[in-house]
Amino acid sequence: MLLKELNNQILSCEKCKLYKTRINVVVGEGSPKADIMFIGEAPGRKEDESGLPFVGSAGKILDELIQSIGLQRSDIYIANVVKCRPPKNRDPLPEEIDSCREWLDRQVEIIKPKLIVLLGRHSMDRFLPNRKISIDHGKPKRLDGQVYYPVYHPAATIYRKQVLEDLQKDFLKIPKILGKI
Ligand code: URA
Repeated sequence: MLLKELNNQILSCEKCKLYKTRINVVVGEGSPKADIMFIGEAPGRKEDESGLPFVGSAGKILDELIQSIGLQRSDIYIANVVKCRPPKNRDPLPEEIDSCREWLDRQVEIIKPKLIVLLGRHSMDRFLPNRKISIDHGKPKRLDGQVYYPVYHPAATIYRKQVLEDLQKDFLKIPKILGKI
């Protein structure tokens, strides 16, 4: 199946209650042939309004980080663990993550990225459970043939200089990690 066809199916999803409050489903954005897939947590207000991932303040930070390694959005694929905005930006509930599980798994299957960058602890938890982002960020991990790379969530860097520096450093390691896969 093509990514476009899958994403069309996701657009009409009503598997969890979030469909009742969403404006748009945020399926994801980028190249279906991307070597790197970035996975965030869930859409926020701006993403819900526009239907695009990471377009708010966290998105600005993510764009700068992507540019810092010589890439642009069209080179990569950006998706989220949960594709509809949780009301008031609360954390996604376990049942919402579960309802969206198949969609994200199928996107990964089609894109077949060499590297999956996990943005923040919720995204890390979805693929590499029972770890701590403060310890595991910046350390690539191979699991069942897939390489994952947990980093801090861009939103976690707002007003936290050390976290921003760690995230910038972790990003700069991405080209080398990718080259070794
Ligand atoms: N935060 C996320 O995790 N995902 C988005 O798309 C926007 C903000």
